[in-house]
This record gives sequence, structure tokens and C-alpha cells, in this order.
Amino acid sequence: MKIPDIIIAIDGYSSTGKSTVAKMLAKEYSLLYLDSGAMYRGITLHAIENGLAEGGAIDEEGLRKALPTLGLDFRVTPEGNATFLGDRCVEKEIRSLEVSSLVSPVSAIPFVREYVDRKLHAFGERKRVVMDGRDIGTTVFPEAELKVFMTASAEVRARRRYDEMVAKGQTPSMEAVMKNLLERDYIDSHREVSPLSRAADAFILDNSEMTLHEELVWFEGLIKGKFGILE
Ligand code: DC
Repeated sequence: MKIPDIIIAIDGYSSTGKSTVAKMLAKEYSLLYLDSGAMYRGITLHAIENGLAEGGAIDEEGLRKALPTLGLDFRVTPEGNATFLGDRCVEKEIRSLEVSSLVSPVSAIPFVREYVDRKLHAFGERKRVVMDGRDIGTTVFPEAELKVFMTASAEVRARRRYDEMVAKGQTPSMEAVMKNLLERDYIDSHREVSPLSRAADAFILDNSEMTLHEELVWFEGLIKGKFGILE
């Protein structure tokens, strides 16, 4: 199915499967996939590795100085899109529980959000992009042609994140994963700058009881209906 040159914004809670579905849509419709959470995670990793988050307290001034030389970027690798800090691929490191536990406070810092927004805008100018995050449809691309807000029960989301981490060779406890998820839900939805919230014109997808295939069928129906595609 051929679709027009659009931006698809997928927002929602942690571990609702936004990136999985976004990657599949990118493949299906030849779009560029951008994971905005990975950018916040890359910045958080840099902070941890450079002593800017000692004991969980973020050194905001140090971080502000570091941003211009961070070299944060997305590149296409044989395994798919990956996040880089300079020449170093950090795709695996940014998914650790340590990064997950600090990324929400880092992403609540206004100058960090401005930095990421500028990068996302540069990518979005070319259209044909599917982006996932927390504020894409509300703040980054309020003019996105298609907006979806994804949600699922906390139990289903914690189980998904747990399985994902185990598959990557990590050994988290289920309690720690659930605690981190609920903490991030809270911080992400209550921060002052662009909190996680549904755009008024976003379609809601609760995938607690859906297979990936059912989600894709749902998206296809939505896209056909919205853009009047008849095939
Ligand atoms: O999608 P994720 O779990 O990888 O995102 C990591 C964190 O980044 C999330 O807890 C909040 C933050 N984030 C954000 O504030 N705004 C976005 N558009 C994307 C992510």
C-alpha cells in the first residue's frame, strides 16, 4: 500500500510496544523510523559515564556544557537504525536498567528537551517519518498527519520489558522492572515541560490483549480510512 508523504506520531506510556510497531510501519510503508526516547537515553548514558549523575543527582551545568560535543546521532547499521555517541554505537548500553532509572529526570530538563526537539525537527522536515515518544503529537510535531496514543495495562507492559531485557542477556528482577515503569509513568506524565499526554486528535490504541499482527491490521485500517486509500 502506498501512502502519502506524512509524519506519523506515536506516543504513549513506557513499554507499550511503540517502537516495535513503529519499526514495522516504517518497513511496511518505507518511512524513516526515529526513536526519540533513544535520544534521551543516549544523553543519560553520557551523563552516567562522565560523572554527571553521581548518586542519581544530575549535574545540569555539566550536562549543558556537554551537549554541543555529544555527537548524538542515528545511523543505519546492518541490524537496523542505531543510536550513536560520536563513532560509538550505544544501542545496547542505552537499554540498561541504570539508564532507564535516570532517563526520566534527564528528559525533564528543559534545555535537554530543546536539544532533542531540534534534532527531531531536522529529521522530520523531510516527511515520510514515523516517530515514537511521549510528546511527538503534542509538542514536537503537533501538525503530524496521523497521531496515535498507545497504552496497555502495567502488568502487560512490565512483562514485555522484562522479557525484552532477558532476551538481551540482562538479569533484572520483575519487581525492579515494574517499579521503574511506574516511576517513569509518573515522572513522564507530571513533569512541567511537555508532559506525556494524549493529543486531542490522537487515536487511542490499547494493545493489552492484541497481537502485533492485530495492531498492524488496526493501523492499516486507520491509514486507509484517514487518507482515503481504496486498495
Ligand atoms: O521510549 P523510552 O522508554 O525509550 O523513553 C525513555 C524516556 O525518555 C522516557 O521515560 C521519557 C523520555 N522521553 C520523553 O520525555 N519524550 C519523548 N518524546 C520520548 C522519551
